[in-house]
Amino acid sequence: KKPGRLVVVSNRVALPQQTATGGLASAMRVAMRERGGLWFGWSGKIGTDSTKVHRTKDGSIDYATIDLTRTDHDEFYAGFANRALWPLLHYRPDLVDYQRDHLDGYLRVNALFADHLVELLKPDDVIWVHDYHLIPLAARLRERGVKNRIGFFLHTPLPAAGLLIGLPQHRALFETLASYDLIGLHTARDLRALEEYFLHEIGGAMRPGGRIRAANGRSFRAGVFPISIETALVAQTAREAAELEEITQLRDSLQDRALIIGVDRLDYSKGLPERFRAYAHLLERASALHRQITFLQIAPPSRGSVPEYRQIRRELERLAGHINGKYAAPDWVPIRYVNQSFPHRLLTGYYRTARVALITPLRDGMNLVAKEYVACQDPKNPGVLVLSRFAGAADELTEALLVNPADPAEVANALERALKMPLRERRQRWRAMMEVLEEHDITAWCQSFLQRLTS
Ligand code: UDP
Ligand code: G6P
Repeated sequence: KKPGRLVVVSNRVALPQQTATGGLASAMRVAMRERGGLWFGWSGKIGTDSTKVHRTKDGSIDYATIDLTRTDHDEFYAGFANRALWPLLHYRPDLVDYQRDHLDGYLRVNALFADHLVELLKPDDVIWVHDYHLIPLAARLRERGVKNRIGFFLHTPLPAAGLLIGLPQHRALFETLASYDLIGLHTARDLRALEEYFLHEIGGAMRPGGRIRAANGRSFRAGVFPISIETALVAQTAREAAELEEITQLRDSLQDRALIIGVDRLDYSKGLPERFRAYAHLLERASALHRQITFLQIAPPSRGSVPEYRQIRRELERLAGHINGKYAAPDWVPIRYVNQSFPHRLLTGYYRTARVALITPLRDGMNLVAKEYVACQDPKNPGVLVLSRFAGAADELTEALLVNPADPAEVANALERALKMPLRERRQRWRAMMEVLEEHDITAWCQSFLQRLTS
């Protein structure tokens, strides 16, 4: 029997001709291109009418998007999703700003999504909902009579139950996860947290075959599905990008200095101030490295309507200015700090030029940049990945130099080791990581999730 149409639902949609900053949009664009189907979500625009569905098509992908009203945007997106759930899921209860209005807006927009979807769905569709913006969506669809298979993938970490229960109304929210047929998480730790929450906090039970039965009687499956990249194509793009003028310009500007690169949305979960301090720590300690290295941090602004994001932006500006002021020479700047987003093609060339990638989130669901960096290396002369052990990617990329991002001395040591690492060791570490990415690419990820969902 022909598999049903795939219907992907996410708040952020990678519309054609847009630079998709964010792992969800990057990954699902590739997955959808291969498989085809309908992609429903937010247009990214604020408007006065959220009842109108905008349709466009790009190859085998049909897009259906809606605008959000100002109130919905502020309460659902900038409010509950990004001021309560995002910090909570990234182990930052201190930053959680819970407001009842925001929760109401969040639930209202999930119901709005469900109202639109029931009009678009066909009986054979396989529905795949993504990320923390849309946790209650399956419950709203079930209430509207939807019987289709519905899967959910959480792109963020899931912290231990002890943290989750700090969120007011947590049960009303998280219990709705039981309305999905399959829940996908990035790591074994995230899966344990989900099981622990259902078992110990809301009185569910484990059933045979890894099923979890919720207190409300519904049962669902959950599994570990680490998301990935289109490895072969990313590697090829990087080879070709080496010839681009922008990449030649970057290379010329380095004048044989070793390039250290970081690429992150400007988000407090990415550990950017800690990273800058670790780099300063190295400069302070190893003056022989001055002028020999350049650190390029690409940090496109993200979620500027949320105060914590404006705050981290100001903090980094101060810190970059301070470090450059202290260590720069008339002909050398230690940190190139760029608040701009770049198209994927250029990034692959930047990655390939960099001797070291410094990727040190305090917490990250997966971190696709780490995987992209590995895939973009020149096999004859590969660079070194310094990676936070708190990124989901650390579970697979075990041959990276794994660090605790909160310890500037440890990160500085790893950075120095990476800069001095002999070619033989670089090649051996790179090969091991590349093999993982070749076997577990985005196609394999997508297939294994959908196979489990529909079996
Ligand atoms: N990205 C991009 N242009 C930029 C910065 C990032 O295309 O200027 C892409 C990057 O290549 C990666 C994604 O955005 O595919 C970021 O995903 P990741 O999982 O590393 O972090 P997230 O932003 O999802 O937290
Ligand atoms: C992370 C989240 C995604 C989100 C992306 C960009 O990857 O897991 O759900 O789309 O960040 O954030 P934004 O708020 O711009 O969609």
